[in-house]
Amino acid sequence: MKDVIIITGASSGFGALAARALARAGHTVYASMRETAGRNAPQVAEAQKYAAKHNVDLRTIDLDVASEASADAAIEAIVTAHGRLDVVIHNAGHMVFGPAEAFTPEQFAELYDVNVLSTQRVNRAALPQLRRQGQGLVIWVSSSSSAGGTPPYLAPYFAAKAALGRPPTRHGLLNTTPAPMRVSRTRCSKGSSPSCRPMRMSLQSRTPSSR
Ligand SMILES: NC(=O)c1ccc[n+]([C@@H]2O[C@H](COP(=O)([O-])OP(=O)(O)OC[C@H]3O[C@@H](n4cnc5c(N)ncnc54)[C@H](OP(=O)(O)O)[C@@H]3O)[C@@H](O)[C@H]2O)c1
Repeated sequence: MKDVIIITGASSGFGALAARALARAGHTVYASMRETAGRNAPQVAEAQKYAAKHNVDLRTIDLDVASEASADAAIEAIVTAHGRLDVVIHNAGHMVFGPAEAFTPEQFAELYDVNVLSTQRVNRAALPQLRRQGQGLVIWVSSSSSAGGTPPYLAPYFAAKAALGRPPTRHGLLNTTPAPMRVSRTRCSKGSSPSCRPMRMSLQSRTPSSR
């Protein structure tokens, strides 16, 4: 069965490429991006052109990951249209460059908001539907740089990515979810890629005591 997939920050880079590749693989893909009627209108047009040319189900939807209302509206629109949502890919991110001490705490907070907290906004909109379905896959795009890179100039970015570098279910973002859940089927199997693990773990470790 083909999946309904949403990718955040898919106006450019990995997000745009992944959206096209997954659509070519036959999935229904929502390349979500902010400012679809403004700055990213050309990216919307490009995606539409690509979909028509390759006869694939590549769509765009407005989603600013910095806005809870925007995340709620995008996920609701997808679930209303399809009755399900199978895969959420947290790809939106922002890199900054400069010596760590040059950034104000407020700038750090903004960086963490886009790179880390934004995923919780989207999860809070999407996970109730995945729980209703009893299955789903959530992928966080981190960075290998969080395991060692070229500080100090990328230290703020690396630090933010490090927050996603391990399954958030084990390290803070999802482990406050209290309701037990039974999974009828999981997409992750023995030998699955590491990106399968976070969701399976989040579905299985429901109680605060299992953190
Ligand atoms: N490139 C690398 O070497 C590398 C390595 C490891 C990990 N990554 C990670 O891979 C992901 C994609 O990066 P990329 O290299 O493809 O860079 P990119 O082309 O700059 O993509 C980042 C995307 O995030 C979007 N974004 C930023 N703030 C947003 C917001 N508030 N709401 C919605 N979208 C927002 C940007 O959209 P706008 O166009 O609207 O700004 C852009 O489409 C990031 O998470 C990045 O940290 C990249």
